[in-house]
Amino acid sequence: MAGPSHVPVLLDRVVALLAPALDRPGSVLVDATLGLGGHSEAVLSRIDATRVIGIDRDPQALALASERLAPYGDRFTAVHAVYDEIEDVLDDLGLSAVDGVLFDLGVSSMQLDVRERGFAYAEDAPLDMRMDGTTGITAAEVLNTYEASDLTRILREYGEEKFARKIAGAVVRERAKEPFTRSGRLVELLYAEIPAPARRTGGHPAKRTFQALRMEVNDELAVLRRAMPASIDAINVGGRVVVESYHSLEDRLVKQAFVAASRSDVPVDLPFVPEGHEPALRLVTRGSEKASPAEISENPRAASVRLRVIERVRDKGAAA
Ligand SMILES: C[S@@+](CC[C@H](N)C(=O)[O-])C[C@H]1O[C@@H](n2cnc3c(N)ncnc32)[C@H](O)[C@@H]1O
Repeated sequence: MAGPSHVPVLLDRVVALLAPALDRPGSVLVDATLGLGGHSEAVLSRIDATRVIGIDRDPQALALASERLAPYGDRFTAVHAVYDEIEDVLDDLGLSAVDGVLFDLGVSSMQLDVRERGFAYAEDAPLDMRMDGTTGITAAEVLNTYEASDLTRILREYGEEKFARKIAGAVVRERAKEPFTRSGRLVELLYAEIPAPARRTGGHPAKRTFQALRMEVNDELAVLRRAMPASIDAINVGGRVVVESYHSLEDRLVKQAFVAASRSDVPVDLPFVPEGHEPALRLVTRGSEKASPAEISENPRAASVRLRVIERVRDKGAAA
């Protein structure tokens, strides 16, 4: 398989969807998942009026993106934070609201490329997988300390792994002999536990387990669940929140948050929506958008993307 692509997913579509919100003097975009700054660079170069606040929990990503976006001077500000802290980030910058918030979820190609960070299963590396290597538990700690029932749940829910129980049992057995430290030993165990017929059809046997560990180590779904209402709350009238998800649980969570925010607060049995009770937000995308076959053939990461966008149409205080 080709290495991870550095091309941002749905780049033109994302910029087009943000443009109506950002095309006015003094507008501000929060790129909540700055990564290598690909989406941010496109916004900065194509929409002159906009300033970008780039958030990432990964100090290495922030350093690389800051270097790349240095030519934009004070139109770009990098912030080391977890994206559910958006309210505090804006407070610290003296901003009460912004015009766009962009989420391009998951890991970056850079994180996958740096072997020592342990995200990629193709090479033997320390079992780390923290997006912010300065804090939190590692994948090795998850494997060596979690109860078998918790390991099973994580593998089943986050990894959609059919052999979750069998794998968790084997991990518990093996760690009693010697704790896990490197990915190579885990990959070997997965080859042994996943039956050959399933291996032939289910993709690389380590893919689902690695994804599940990464989501647990970084507490990805809980953070996203908090970040959705926080970012919807942060946008001005005309402002948009744009989310690119790559996992069905992420997309479901985004969909639920967007549907809840765009619903009117009047009882469902009322035949009309009284003035002042119209919803403050509207869904810009009907359902979710996917990448085109052409983009997917150039950028395999685009295959699983689901794009959703919501826009504020009324002031927060407008609905009584
Ligand atoms: C897919 S990459 C973004 C790529 C970026 N759009 C680009 O064009 O280069 C996702 C980035 O979001 C960061 N990230 C993931 N979850 C985060 C969170 N909860 N808070 C802050 N940053 C996060 C990761 O560290 C990674 O750098």
